[in-house]
Amino acid sequence: MTAKRLDGKQIAAEMRAEIKHDVAALTQKGVRPGLGVLLVGEDPASRSYVTAKEKACEEAGILSREVKLPATAGKAEILAAVAAFNAADEIVGILVQLPLPDGNIEEEVLNTILPEKDVDGFHPVNVGRMMLGLPAYLPCTPHGILHILKRSGIELRGKHVVVVGRSNIVGRPLANLLSQKSELGNATVTVCHTGTPDIAAFTRQADVVIAAVGRPHVITADMIREGAVVVDVGVNRVEDASRKSGYRLVGDCDYEAMLERASAITPVPGGVGPMTITMLLYNTVECARRRRLND
Ligand code: GUN
Repeated sequence: MTAKRLDGKQIAAEMRAEIKHDVAALTQKGVRPGLGVLLVGEDPASRSYVTAKEKACEEAGILSREVKLPATAGKAEILAAVAAFNAADEIVGILVQLPLPDGNIEEEVLNTILPEKDVDGFHPVNVGRMMLGLPAYLPCTPHGILHILKRSGIELRGKHVVVVGRSNIVGRPLANLLSQKSELGNATVTVCHTGTPDIAAFTRQADVVIAAVGRPHVITADMIREGAVVVDVGVNRVEDASRKSGYRLVGDCDYEAMLERASAITPVPGGVGPMTITMLLYNTVECARRRRLND
């Protein structure tokens, strides 16, 4: 069996064309969606993610405003930047790039973003509404994964999905969305994590394995059953002297070996990553749309 490549880049391009169309229509009605981006510190990975998000905004016609603070910025300065975005009329969505240099203040900072501007879906109000199956801004990576599967014609209803990883950004919300009685979910879900003694015993039973571990190639081909669908959320830098940058990106799964065993698999790069940014654009447009309805 040679696995079908689930082309997140292609699906993202299709969705971004639809989003661009929606942005143009909203802009014509006087609500140009604007995204406020707060970057604290100099982490190179965060810098490159933020640059990619801003470029995607520009291509879609969304206004983006970046506020950059030094790694030494204190809590008061960071909260003041969020408050300014909360108060700014042209900013309908706010993104605080994580991790913050001081991880201890992340919760407080995220909690001060107005829930109606929370394009990441990290505010407790949006997390709670999602859990209850109410309309909410959904976290971008889980939401993007559901759209890759839907647009690839992979039905989840009644399937056994094993999610490996229980982070607040990916594993936990994804497991919740997959289990909901909705068009994108209705699956039977198992969550494995660092406390699971034998992860392979679960992944081998799965129709769909979703790896969100954050360590290179820890999910190997012998851990999935023949014909399983594999979604690889990992973006891990491994040293590669043949590259100009000195590194290359690999997923949590052993992609090459899985090609012969899985029925479908997302590549890294070019799988889940482009969808995460796409869903950020999607949420920003949704913020603008709801704001227009409420004005
Ligand atoms: N850092 C890694 N992933 C994300 C994300 O989806 N949103 C934000 N704000 N920061 C991140």
